[in-house]
Amino acid sequence: MSVTGTIRTTARRAQNAMTPATYAQGDMDILTKLKKEHRELQLLLDELVNTESAATRRTLLRKIKAALVPHSRAEEKVVYDAVIALKDKEAEQDGKEGYLEHHLADKTLAALGEAGASSVEFAAAAKVLRELLKHHIREEESNIWSDVKDNFSDEEREQMNRDFEAAKKKVKIPQ
Ligand SMILES: [Fe+2]
Ligand SMILES: [Fe+2]
Repeated sequence: MSVTGTIRTTARRAQNAMTPATYAQGDMDILTKLKKEHRELQLLLDELVNTESAATRRTLLRKIKAALVPHSRAEEKVVYDAVIALKDKEAEQDGKEGYLEHHLADKTLAALGEAGASSVEFAAAAKVLRELLKHHIREEESNIWSDVKDNFSDEEREQMNRDFEAAKKKVKIPQ
């Protein structure tokens, strides 16, 4: 993190230390929530790649869309936008890279929706989506998470989790 980033973090932590605790006990850190959802998604993607049944593929695709689309949109709004707003060049790049990878995941989801569930195209797109998200999640959990850990207090991260949950509820899942 840059020197300005460190100063900003220190100032923010000092401010938080002086603010009376108004947060509910047991609130989850945004990073704990994201990790939980990443693992759930990865299990669904493994199942999708490993099945040849058209009916199971359709069910899994529905579940993956319902999990992935709100996760991505809320993550962009609550996590990426906050990281981009830090005005730290590396953090900004991490956020932009995340947006681009989400866009590629959306395109691959759309390709899965268009392919017949018994087709070779479906099997190919399922593998691409799993690989893409494996890479994306690995980078997100190292780069973006360092940006979040370095710049936001425990309380701010709990608030981010609440904002993340609220943002997910507003997302419309594509058919
Ligand atoms: Fe994520
Ligand atoms: Fe993501």
